[in-house]
Amino acid sequence: QRIFLIDTDTGSDDAVAIIMALKCNDVKVEAITTVAGNVTIEQANKNALISCEVAGTYMPPVYAGMDRPLLRKLIHSYETHGEDGMGNMDLAEPAHQLSEGHGIDIIIDMARKYDGELEIVALGPLTNIAMAVLKAPDIAKKIKKLYIMGTSGFAPGNVSPVAEFNIWADPEACDVVLKSGIDQVYVGWDMCCGDAMLEPEDIAYLDKETECSHFCIRCNKCLMELNEGRFGHPCLDMADPVAMAVALWPDLIIEAPHAYTYVETHSEQTLGQVVCDWTNTLGKEPNATMCKKLDNPRMKKLMMEHML
Ligand code: BDR
Ligand code: CA
Repeated sequence: QRIFLIDTDTGSDDAVAIIMALKCNDVKVEAITTVAGNVTIEQANKNALISCEVAGTYMPPVYAGMDRPLLRKLIHSYETHGEDGMGNMDLAEPAHQLSEGHGIDIIIDMARKYDGELEIVALGPLTNIAMAVLKAPDIAKKIKKLYIMGTSGFAPGNVSPVAEFNIWADPEACDVVLKSGIDQVYVGWDMCCGDAMLEPEDIAYLDKETECSHFCIRCNKCLMELNEGRFGHPCLDMADPVAMAVALWPDLIIEAPHAYTYVETHSEQTLGQVVCDWTNTLGKEPNATMCKKLDNPRMKKLMMEHML
């Protein structure tokens, strides 16, 4: 089994990604670390525990991580995911508790314990990963692969014309991660659009198939309503589940070029924009991989199967 650690600002699409991972027999989720982003750290903790319980397979330990970005004011995305990050579901308290320890230390410990084996899937702002690598730079080369839901990929952004939420919420953290030497794969916002989206027939099927798949749809109610206004029909762009799918089944990647990559941390207008030097004008070594094309039909099938 592959060894995974999931770092998450658990909102509604993070919840689905967690469930998919816990239902995949090929991987063992050794730990979940939470980070502030979509919601507060307290809410992310609760949502992460509940997501694990709903998956109904096994309970990985959940550890609280950073409650704010490295330098910036914390900005949530309540309009996309609801006041609770879970489509205003009014969820009861989880039966399980958080585990003792800080998320940053857990990332460091796991990377050292599973030297060369640990794969991390980051589904929120990169604050915890940046802190971990700042505190213990040796882990950069011990982490086998870091999959990141972040950047706008090859398309416009979702929080500004050029930036995607996870990077924009803590651009300095992304800067640290890009400079860290970790082998990192970005699954940009563009990868969950177009024919990667869940359409009305997919939503109707999942909504009634099992309790777990119903949960996956129900918690994304706010996002669905937002999309109904935008596209004229209910549909779901599943950012974190698509990133998780790439991590779980890397052979879904059809095209993912490498390039020297940096992030804008100063300009007000382009804050959080991730720039890849595709033509190598700067003559620097590639430090990131950017997903460009995925096998979307197969991906959607696998994603949906792992929500049941
Ligand atoms: C990212 O931001 C959040 O809204 C989602 O959970 C995802 O991680 C998409 O930009
Ligand atoms: Ca997220």
